[in-house]
Amino acid sequence: MSERSIGVTLLGCGVVGGGVVNILTQQRDLLRQRTGLTFDIRHIVVRDAGKHRGDLPVPLTTDAAAAIDDPGTQIVVELIGGTTTAGTHIERALKLGKPVVTANKSLLSARGGELFALARKHDTCIAFEASCGGGVPIVESLMKGLLANRIDALVGIVNGTCNVILTRMTRNGWTYDEALKEAQRLGFAEADPTLDVSGRDAAQKLALLASLAFNVGVAESDIHVEGIDTIQPTDIQFARDLGYVIKLLAIAERHVQGVGSKDPHHPGQAKPGEFLNLRVHPTLVHKDDVLAEVGGSFNAISVYGHALGHALFYGRGAGQMPTASAVVSDLLGVALGTTPLAFKQLRIFPDTTPRASVLPFHDLQSRYYLRLMVKDQPGVMGQVSQILGNHGISLSAILQRETDDGQNVPIVITTHRATEGPMRRALDQINALPTITPPTVCLRIIDQPKEFAGG
Ligand code: NDP
Ligand code: HSE
Repeated sequence: MSERSIGVTLLGCGVVGGGVVNILTQQRDLLRQRTGLTFDIRHIVVRDAGKHRGDLPVPLTTDAAAAIDDPGTQIVVELIGGTTTAGTHIERALKLGKPVVTANKSLLSARGGELFALARKHDTCIAFEASCGGGVPIVESLMKGLLANRIDALVGIVNGTCNVILTRMTRNGWTYDEALKEAQRLGFAEADPTLDVSGRDAAQKLALLASLAFNVGVAESDIHVEGIDTIQPTDIQFARDLGYVIKLLAIAERHVQGVGSKDPHHPGQAKPGEFLNLRVHPTLVHKDDVLAEVGGSFNAISVYGHALGHALFYGRGAGQMPTASAVVSDLLGVALGTTPLAFKQLRIFPDTTPRASVLPFHDLQSRYYLRLMVKDQPGVMGQVSQILGNHGISLSAILQRETDDGQNVPIVITTHRATEGPMRRALDQINALPTITPPTVCLRIIDQPKEFAGG
């Protein structure tokens, strides 16, 4: 059993980088006992060396090129974030044949195919466990433990910031702004938190996970994205009254569409065949669904494999130490040689797979939650249900609360399964009614898969 020391350069030493330094220094003996490896941090590159405390193992530098080029640097860990500087440094490392470990979902979802191909060309690899699900080993699972399965669906809570916000609003009655500040204070949010609340961060992670799960290239632009920034406390309350919890879900489902499933308003668009249905949006999840219980910065990814059935990957999806745990596990995988082997052999990375056939969003089938603000006048509900009926949308429940002002009252409708295109056209007509104050809130309801509901 050989003992080896591995030279590492850290690009970025903020929330996640600080955690990596902590594990590599505090757990040095444990890692060596388990693996025979010690990690020698040779350089830590930051933007502003002056703002850091002096308790780091090596002097800080701003010279990334020199740190990457140092012959003693065997693995480069990129924890800067963003697509510009990080991309340039990663390219530099790969061109030198040095493996890269990164937590950067923005960069990989935008340029993954190109960077993976560059790594392959220079006979090296990219490891990216921390880019999806924080500390949850979902990338490793898709690359290994789940490989025997045809994956039918992947449904996840993959953004810690949004989950903190929705959890605090739901369970503690906090405002949206209070909860967002908390997520920022705890180091969960991106440098630009609009990436989180707009759903984009979740979409970037879904692009990476769906690529691995379904062996296809998925771009962020393939994914329909809605954020949580429009969720009102009243919707959280109505959802609760109906037995649901609102969660930001990232969903990728295999969708087999038969001949004759055409939307008459979009002839020719609903083609038969196999498609991926890809979306990120706030979703009503039944309170008995395991995802409804996932709170705070925890992430959970439900994967449905044809052989395994339902598996749930659960753990802290953001934050210093959980994310650092994933980064160090990637360092170990690279240094032990398992990650380079898998990278070389598996044909699941976006540079080795065909582009996904994506289901047009107007062909999505779902149940819906609608909240309308209506003038408290006779006949309004008749008009609304008439419009929905004209579009083939059937109602499941209607909820109205008494109000004092007698002006605008919220009415909540849930529907049976309907198609997105007709639903959008119905909403356009409903919002145009003089008795309605637009916009009508439209959220999707996810049904528990039968196997899971069966216990
Ligand atoms: P931080 O903002 O906390 O840290 C970023 C680090 O990068 C800082 O040390 C900063 O230097 C350095 N940096 C920024 N710009 C440059 C530059 N031009 N040149 C050199 N160094 C630079 O970010 P996080 O640690 O939160 O996130 C890092 C990455 O990890 C991102 O890709 C993020 O998406 C991802 N991630 C984050 C998670 C989290 O919970 N925070 C979880 C999972 C993934 P300085 O210190 O001088 O400002
Ligand atoms: N901003 C991200 C989140 C960090 O809140 O989930 C983890 O990727």
